[in-house]
Amino acid sequence: MSITRTLGEFIIEHQNHFPHASGDLSSLLGSIKLAAKIVNREINKAGLVDITGSVGAENVQGEEQQKLDLYANDKFKAALEARGQVCGIASEEEDEAVSFNKELNKNAKYVVLMDPLDGSSNIDVNVSVGTIFSIYHRVSPIGSAPTAEDFLQPGHKQVAAGYIIYGSSTMLVYTTGKGVHGFTYDPSIGVFCLSHEKMMIPATGSIYSINEGNYIRFPTGIKKYIKYCQEDAPEDNRPYTSRYIGSLVADYHRNLLKGGVYLYPSTQRHPDGKLRLLYECNPIAFLMEQSGGKATDGYQRILDIKPTELHQRVPFVVGSTIMVEKVESFLQQYPD
Ligand code: AHG
Ligand code: MN
Ligand code: MN
Repeated sequence: MSITRTLGEFIIEHQNHFPHASGDLSSLLGSIKLAAKIVNREINKAGLVDITGSVGAENVQGEEQQKLDLYANDKFKAALEARGQVCGIASEEEDEAVSFNKELNKNAKYVVLMDPLDGSSNIDVNVSVGTIFSIYHRVSPIGSAPTAEDFLQPGHKQVAAGYIIYGSSTMLVYTTGKGVHGFTYDPSIGVFCLSHEKMMIPATGSIYSINEGNYIRFPTGIKKYIKYCQEDAPEDNRPYTSRYIGSLVADYHRNLLKGGVYLYPSTQRHPDGKLRLLYECNPIAFLMEQSGGKATDGYQRILDIKPTELHQRVPFVVGSTIMVEKVESFLQQYPD
């Protein structure tokens, strides 16, 4: 790959596409880039230093917190506070939204919502993990502390969103609503380099990604869809291939490149599914629509849902448009 542009150059270049841009969003993305490098360095040391395993505590959603969950949370939070473009954050690892109290931050116009470490149970077994972020303009007055309304905006109000995948190579993928662009990290020079410009998902594919261990608890429409994926129909590339890593970012990234569908549906025990609307589904849905794909809860567009609470969960179907629509048609055909 010949290096054409670095992430920093690309961000500045694209800032010029927005009339009256002040550079604040570019600087904010720069903070995320910096924290990503720090977290990447730490993840690469997993197994060598004492950073794997749990801290013996649970987050507000009752999930065991891993050391790296908290490390990533602290690094992203600190980086976002330091430059003063962000007035507050909400994170999967924080019980409540956090307001940044310095004068500099009160005058900031953005809030950031994040899943600092996605797929964290995969760290100890050397499997890809990620960070997901979502950026909104605040709706509360500049100069004051952020309010709940700043964090509970529907996903279609996002200004930017993206993820970092810490995989066989580390990549940062983001959108500001003008396409999706991917940058691969070159650790020898410490720079993210443009490697995937204007990423588009194929309209259909032959991969389905779902935790089939939960099969017995799925709605009938999802069970029927899984059987449809497994049918022998060579003219339609079926049976499809089943691929499930258990890190949303990694499963999403593969399906984006190859074409496919990812599902985390409701189950009898968890009617709202598992994934979090604000930290996982909204940013991923924004990216997917910008790549030409679709993201729904099986019935309605994720980005149109008006959130009511920070840690809200939602069933999630995301991927190639034709495949997502097929899932929707099964749910319509077999209502429970
Ligand atoms: P997190 O590590 O941030 O809690 O997210 C884990 C999520 C998501 O990344 C993954 O796709 C899903 O949980 C896996 O859940 P199951 O183990 O229930 O399949
Ligand atoms: Mn997650
Ligand atoms: Mn997480």
